[in-house]
Amino acid sequence: MADETGATLSSNMSMKMMAEGLKQSSLTQDVTQSPIFKEVMVNLGDKRTVLDIGAGVGRYTAPLASAGCKVTAIEPSPEMISHLRETLARYEVSEVVNIVQASWPQDNLKSAEVTLASFVIQFSNDWVGFARAMEKSATNRCILAVHVDPIMYFMDKLWPIFHAEEPGPRMPGFTEIYPVLLEAGIIANVKVFEEQHGPRWKNAEEALPTISERLGVVGNREAMKQLEDILEDPTFGIFATRAHRVAMISWKPSTPA
Ligand SMILES: C[S@@+](CC[C@H](N)C(=O)[O-])C[C@H]1O[C@@H](n2cnc3c(N)ncnc32)[C@H](O)[C@@H]1O
Repeated sequence: MADETGATLSSNMSMKMMAEGLKQSSLTQDVTQSPIFKEVMVNLGDKRTVLDIGAGVGRYTAPLASAGCKVTAIEPSPEMISHLRETLARYEVSEVVNIVQASWPQDNLKSAEVTLASFVIQFSNDWVGFARAMEKSATNRCILAVHVDPIMYFMDKLWPIFHAEEPGPRMPGFTEIYPVLLEAGIIANVKVFEEQHGPRWKNAEEALPTISERLGVVGNREAMKQLEDILEDPTFGIFATRAHRVAMISWKPSTPA
């Protein structure tokens, strides 16, 4: 679904699933230890201002605000914003975070020392425009996080089983996005690191509704049974924790605000 700014937003089902995954990660991971959080902190100036673009449930917004940053959280999804408010309340930082319901790019916002967009640029259909707008709004540093390994890695195995003839949907990641930024003259520091992910679901019963929807097999009894059998097979490995590679792309804005 494309909104009027050209940003691509996900379906309600995907948004719900994304929110659940982010909330789980927000509760189980200490993001203050993440290279992304540390990169924001070392690039702050006296004002300690951050634009958290596509803040989601506030995985970074809340810990940054807790660490004394003045964060503006930009988020288009009302569903995500309600989770974001919960996270801010849990961290007791609701009063110090400015929430703006909008899609990036925005040119009517006050600039910040750091613009951060963690796992957001892949939803935009203009990666260079997205990154250039981050530069315009940052005085010190622009920081992007993108997936190196696909987040729904198991879809690469499942899709051909149910749709042998069609290529599967693929969310762009580092391999696709970084060369485009480089070509546009955005020369950045890149750090690839591993995060431990999952398991998102405890068993096949829990996983089936989301995965069957993604595969477009809901209502097809035979396919649903086949999918359930695959998910229940321990060798499929979907219910194990796994290492997931992430790239942090960080650069000094060439046209400071
Ligand atoms: C995968 S989540 C990442 C959330 C958060 N940055 C994090 O790392 O936990 C992506 C978020 O970006 C938001 N989003 C998608 N397109 C956007 C855009 N053009 N501008 C701002 N946010 C966007 C989605 O609504 C969603 O909340």
